[in-house]
Amino acid sequence: MRSRLRNFLVCTTLLSSSTAIAQGPLELVSPPEVELPFGDAAFPEGNGAQALNEHCLACHSPDHVLNQPSLPRAGWEDTVKKMIRAYKVEISQEDQKRIVDYLTATKGLD
Ligand code: HEC
Repeated sequence: MRSRLRNFLVCTTLLSSSTAIAQGPLELVSPPEVELPFGDAAFPEGNGAQALNEHCLACHSPDHVLNQPSLPRAGWEDTVKKMIRAYKVEISQEDQKRIVDYLTATKGLD
C-alpha cells in the first residue's frame, strides 16, 4: 500500500512539475545534469525492452516493475491493461504484446 501511494505521489509530482515548467516565466535555466547508472535508468536488454523503456518509465523505475512478484502471462496482460485503463497510457497493440512477452519471459510463471 505504502509503495503504491509513493508511486502515485511520484507520478503526480512528475506531472505537476512539468506543468509548472510549462507555465513558469521564460527563463533560460539549464536543467541540472543527472547521470543515472544504466541499470536504474532502463529495462535490462531483452526482446521488447525498448517498448517498456518507451512506455513504462514515465511513472516508475524498471526496478519497481521488476521487483513485483512473478505472474503468469494473463497477469501481465491485466497489469498492462490496467496501466492503460487507469493511467491513460497509450500503447499500440504491437507494443502491448512486446511488453507482455518481455514481462512473461523475465518475470513469468508459465
Ligand atoms: C501514467 C503513469 C504510469 C505509466 C506510464 C505506467 N504505470 Fe504502472 N503504475 C502506475 C501507478 C500510479 C502505479 C501504482 C498504483 C497501482 O498499483 O494501481 C503503478 C503500478 C504498477 C505495477 C505494480 C503492480 C500493480 O498492478 O499495481 C506494475 C507491475 C506496473 N505499474 C507496470 C507498468 C508497466 C509494465 C508499464 C508500461 C506498460 C507501466 N506500469 C506504465 C502508473 C503508471
